[in-house]
Amino acid sequence: MINKIGIVGGGNIGGVLAAEIVSRRLARNVALVDVKGPDLAAGKCLDIAEAMPVYGRDVNIVGAKTYDILAGCDFVINTAGVPRAMRPDGTFPSREELLAINLKITDLVADGINKFAPGAFIISIANPLDAIVYRLFKKTKANPARIMGMAGVLDSARYKYFVAEAAGVSVENVEAVVLGGHGDTMVPIRSACRIYGLPVEQFVPAKKLDAIEDRTRNAGGEVVKLLGSGSAFVSPAISALEMVEAIAFDKKKIVPVCALLQGEYSVKGLFVGVPALLGAGGIEKIIKIKLTPEEAAALKKSVASVKKTCAEVDAAK
Ligand code: APR
Repeated sequence: MINKIGIVGGGNIGGVLAAEIVSRRLARNVALVDVKGPDLAAGKCLDIAEAMPVYGRDVNIVGAKTYDILAGCDFVINTAGVPRAMRPDGTFPSREELLAINLKITDLVADGINKFAPGAFIISIANPLDAIVYRLFKKTKANPARIMGMAGVLDSARYKYFVAEAAGVSVENVEAVVLGGHGDTMVPIRSACRIYGLPVEQFVPAKKLDAIEDRTRNAGGEVVKLLGSGSAFVSPAISALEMVEAIAFDKKKIVPVCALLQGEYSVKGLFVGVPALLGAGGIEKIIKIKLTPEEAAALKKSVASVKKTCAEVDAAK
């Protein structure tokens, strides 16, 4: 069991995270920080605490508007930021369009972590994902093994779900991975997609896979359109907890993680989605996958897009 998990941002994703941590009895202590309302975080925590006799859980859960409650956290999960939402004309912004507003929030989050939870594992979910985790890294100077973004687990889960549905098999039979930036240029790796260890093309025709991969790239937007307000929140929260569990239980589990690359995949100094082995040390190893020339080219394009957003981050000192 983890001693303490901190969550920054007690909105949709933060709320699911807090409730799920209690439900799984994943940590003894949970701290939720949010600047909103009279005290949104305290309200959410009280609501969850009052369910504890029904859950049969004795987790100590505290919410506040100030960051001091993060003291002693082993993990900090960052969800602070504005999500994508539908505009009145039916369009919605790209994740990158959230940069200016979410960057300011990220700097406050970094200050809070520096003051009260230096050294904690940092898992960031706020968008634009790759650029926000890059900023958090620059501002916290965290050990690269201990700071990462959650996107690949979710993007891969979406890919797996669509493949399982098309093949008419259990989601548990599908293995799939999506690499690159968490934007429209993300790269579903068909050559690594397997159903019961067999090539996916044996179950799903190539044309259908093209459509599935397209849907995967736009899956976040599909949910934004349906919700009408805000963006996906259950799947991102659950995906982040897969990373927390891999580290806390020293699972040595390989999952796609937005990690600082230092030469791997010919990328240096950027956070990009790649498979990583997660264990007690955090990111213990970046795993290299053999890509087809088309996949390698798509990854290069995706990295270029991450680089462009990170250049905007650097310019916004
Ligand atoms: N410190 C703490 N919390 C903050 C701060 C801050 N400085 N600034 C904003 N917040 C809080 C907001 O008050 C809000 O309650 O972050 C919360 C975000 O919650 P939602 O608006 O419900 O957004 P959510 O769906 O949870 O998504 C959060 O994750 O997936 C990404 O694109 C998404 O960037 C968005 C983030």
